Amino acid sequence: MNRFRGAQRTFLGLFVALTACSAPADEDRYTAVADMSDLMAHVLEPNAQVYWRAVGWIIDFEGEHELRPETEEEWLAVENAAFVVAEAGNLLMMDGRALDDGPWMTMSQSLIDIGRRAIEVAEARDEQAVFDVGAEMYFVCTQCHATYALETLRPSDDRAQESDAGS
Ligand code: HEC
Repeated sequence: MNRFRGAQRTFLGLFVALTACSAPADEDRYTAVADMSDLMAHVLEPNAQVYWRAVGWIIDFEGEHELRPETEEEWLAVENAAFVVAEAGNLLMMDGRALDDGPWMTMSQSLIDIGRRAIEVAEARDEQAVFDVGAEMYFVCTQCHATYALETLRPSDDRAQESDAGS
């Protein structure tokens, strides 16, 4: 009985070793289509915009109006956008895209985390929470830009001034 278990374990070990050897590196398995700028401009930005524009308040002469998704289709579009933002965190972590193994990975993971919450509150049809999570999502975007892409921050952003001080 024991010997049989031992043999089983050896076989399993061999199997793991073989699959580990034959597993292709990330670069071989995937083909990155977008460079970093394209990924931001064509994947992250348009989908984050759908999320950010979904809910808001407008004040005019007639008073305050709430902007919110009205139809099931509009809510679905918000959910879809949140899924793209969340999964884009994985795209950022791919070999060949990740700029380092430290803060880049942490901030990409933050994008996944906030994307997950964005999905949850959209699925709950909670417009106040969509608004709040949208603000946090914006913070995650600009946090990474403050570290890796200072030129993308608005001049009014305090963190953009840091680059001027440095140069
Ligand atoms: C993990 C880091 C990281 C996160 C998170 C991140 N970005 Fe970026 N972003 C970058 C880098 C790096 C660049 C500079 C890309 C380049 O041009 O090389 C950039 C550039 C951009 C640009 C300018 C693209 C261009 O060249 O036209 C936009 C727009 C943008 N990001 C939007 C977003 C939005 C929206 C989010 C959040 C939903 C986000 N980014 C989250 C790293 C990040």
